[in-house]
Amino acid sequence: MRIYVTEDYNAMSRRVASILAAQVILKPDCVLGLATGSTPVGAYKLLAEGYKKGDLDFSQVRSINLDEYVGLAPTHDQSYRYFMQSNLFDHVNINPDNTNVPNGLAADPAEECRRYNQVIRTLGPIDIQLLGMGHNGHIGFNEPADAFALETNLVNLAESTIQANARFFASADEVPRQAMTMGIQTIMQARKVLVAVSGKDKAAIVKKAFTGPVTPQVPASILQMHPDVILVGDKAALSEL
Ligand code: GLP
Repeated sequence: MRIYVTEDYNAMSRRVASILAAQVILKPDCVLGLATGSTPVGAYKLLAEGYKKGDLDFSQVRSINLDEYVGLAPTHDQSYRYFMQSNLFDHVNINPDNTNVPNGLAADPAEECRRYNQVIRTLGPIDIQLLGMGHNGHIGFNEPADAFALETNLVNLAESTIQANARFFASADEVPRQAMTMGIQTIMQARKVLVAVSGKDKAAIVKKAFTGPVTPQVPASILQMHPDVILVGDKAALSEL
């Protein structure tokens, strides 16, 4: 595992954006595994700037997002489809048909998970999977569990995740209770995994995930077994490593 310690959030974002940009330049038709959350926002902004400057071309890039809330329309401002459009896709020349996020409004979420697995099988393996990390070690929406989930599956969100994400909604009651998430096996099949972390509040879980036992109770801990992981964090998030 390679670890990059940066001064602060902005420097972390620059490093994450550079790594993703390098991937797009080296393989213009690459498959990017993308993440949401507050952590990658700065990196996406820089990628959009790279496109505007003429340094990056997303015309052949394919993307697969990690997860989506069940019950939120793509136009809902807290849906992950909306997040991706407003933070990245609307600002670069990616072909909308080449972007993939589970459909939060699918009538049958279990069936939607199966469809998404098929999409991943057709496009994959993912060249580089970007990940943030929840405070309980979740990646995507793979919450602590008794076993590692394999493929895209329907999950009940942990109470701590609902509370953590309530800041984006009018109240915790409005946070969806379920989500569809890419499974751990799929994440582990990505050729490269890029983990981005920022802030003191992530320091304890970063330590647990990367130096503690590998256990489904800390989903990110499985990344210790991946042959090509890059961890980029600001010094606050990596302070306990
Ligand atoms: C959400 C997402 C994750 C993300 C996590 C951390 O629950 N499903 O993909 O990594 O939150 O978010 P943040 O980057 O805002 O700390």
